[in-house]
Amino acid sequence: MDKILDIITGQVQDAFAACGYDTRYAQAGLSNRPDLCEFQCNGAMAAAKAYKKAPIAIADEVVERLLGNDMFETVEAVKPGFINIKLDRTYLSQYVMGMKLADKFGLEPVKNPKKIVIDYGGANVAKPLHVGHLRPAIIGESLKRINRYLGHEVIGDVHLGDWGLQIGLVITELKKRRPDLPYFDETFQGEYPKDAPFTVSELEEIYPAASARSKEDEEYKKEALLETAKLQRGERGCRAIWEHIMAVSVPDLKKNYDRLHVTFDLWKKESDAHPYIPDMVEKMKREGYAYESEGALVVDVKEESDAKELPPCIILKSDGSSLYATTDLATIVEREKLFAPNHIIYVTDKRQEMYFTQVFRTAYKTKIAGENTELTFVGHGTMNGRDGKPFKTRDGGVMRLSNLIADVEQQMYKKIIENKNQASEEDAKEIAKVVALSAIKYGDLSNQASKDYVFDMERFTSFEGNTGPYILYTIVRIKSILKRYGQETGTSDSVRILPATGESEKGLLLQLTQFAPTMETACEELAPHKICSYIYELANVFNKFYHETKILSEEDKDRQASWIQILLLTRDVLETCIEVLGFEAPDRM
Ligand code: ARG
Repeated sequence: MDKILDIITGQVQDAFAACGYDTRYAQAGLSNRPDLCEFQCNGAMAAAKAYKKAPIAIADEVVERLLGNDMFETVEAVKPGFINIKLDRTYLSQYVMGMKLADKFGLEPVKNPKKIVIDYGGANVAKPLHVGHLRPAIIGESLKRINRYLGHEVIGDVHLGDWGLQIGLVITELKKRRPDLPYFDETFQGEYPKDAPFTVSELEEIYPAASARSKEDEEYKKEALLETAKLQRGERGCRAIWEHIMAVSVPDLKKNYDRLHVTFDLWKKESDAHPYIPDMVEKMKREGYAYESEGALVVDVKEESDAKELPPCIILKSDGSSLYATTDLATIVEREKLFAPNHIIYVTDKRQEMYFTQVFRTAYKTKIAGENTELTFVGHGTMNGRDGKPFKTRDGGVMRLSNLIADVEQQMYKKIIENKNQASEEDAKEIAKVVALSAIKYGDLSNQASKDYVFDMERFTSFEGNTGPYILYTIVRIKSILKRYGQETGTSDSVRILPATGESEKGLLLQLTQFAPTMETACEELAPHKICSYIYELANVFNKFYHETKILSEEDKDRQASWIQILLLTRDVLETCIEVLGFEAPDRM
């Protein structure tokens, strides 16, 4: 379906043209004075300069042309030269009816579907998921769903960190604790044990211990670096320990991501890029992009226009081992080969921005990434505690993701029990989980990704205000009216939406028409927060309408049936929006 704003603009353009003015002045927009009008065109002001006339004179002429148009309820010229528009109610109800009958509420699928890889999650094996992994998982998952909804082909890749120092650290610590294990015996020729020498919880204790020690003990750190290099060279014992780490760690990570309803199409990891490194490095040298500097192999990436000089991208360390950038670059080689994507989007902490600039420039310069492969960095801010510092546990430690989720579920459970709407404790627990996820995800996504935000348990779990639970509460309210009315589905032949009577009803219909443009903008700008603002407003206008309207006791049955259609549409639009944000609504709460 054509978007309402485009249709209005088309009408205003015709009027501008008929008066002899250039149509580029005729762009209409949503009103920023909703008390006065619904749409407005401010082009008369700019046109005034070009045509050396008073803006109000131009606005008056254009309005004159628009007056007979039955798309509009009112069209007014207002000083100094605004054109204020209200939409005709019959037109609006027909448009909304069209949305109800159309696929995806009239959203046009993208003209040129792209193949997009989204690299998000970024968990590191051997380390438990902590709150720092929450944002890339939540934002990336939503970007994946939004792009898919618009019609793009999207591949989500977790891109596990499994090839860096953390593995060397675990190996080193294990060696200290259990030197007797066969992995450390260089003369050992036999088969290594099938079972890992540690459990998940042991592993989760080993890594932080090793990491802490390496910060104090130079020798220890050197050893860990050595073990990392040995692993990357394919040394048998190191490889075997790495395999154990993967076997123990990956299922645990999966469990945690599942709990967040975050799913990946690919469970690839840094080590998968390893086989691509030698050829890639060879090519970079051969073509003269990479050169040696202080023993390391580097590629220059600075550009004239840089405000601050960008250091070269290090491709290999002096001991020949690879770095974070090496695997990221080799992963681009791999992705080009396996998927030939049009676009790769990385969702990572914004503190990695400079790093990704180096990687992207290297990739384009060395032609690892094709000219038509767009590389985009979506940097997210930090989730802070109420003290404004990165979120910590009460005793100042790193908060495990699973603990954070459990805390929110507990809080939600308390509130739901207070509401006393549940059949059983079991039900309340299940519902608490669903609502808790909305609290966490909406709390995150309603902020612009690049900004930091404060995780405020009280606020995020509130049923009022700009929160996930408020949105769910609104959906549940609609579901309950539909249930009492006895219509939870809409059949297409019964769709009849009457022209709105009251202002709140009209406001609701107008807000519904903004579904498609909102989705499109959120997709283009990679901005899930725009969907959050949209549904918050939609929930608000719905609730206003609900409080002013006695739906179930309405005696005019046609009117009542029309409202039910509006309710069905509102529910479906809200549910579609939360679906792309990555959570869902319960039936009761
Ligand atoms: N594992 C990395 C980290 O913990 C994040 C990975 C982000 N993705 C990437 N392709 N570098 O910082």
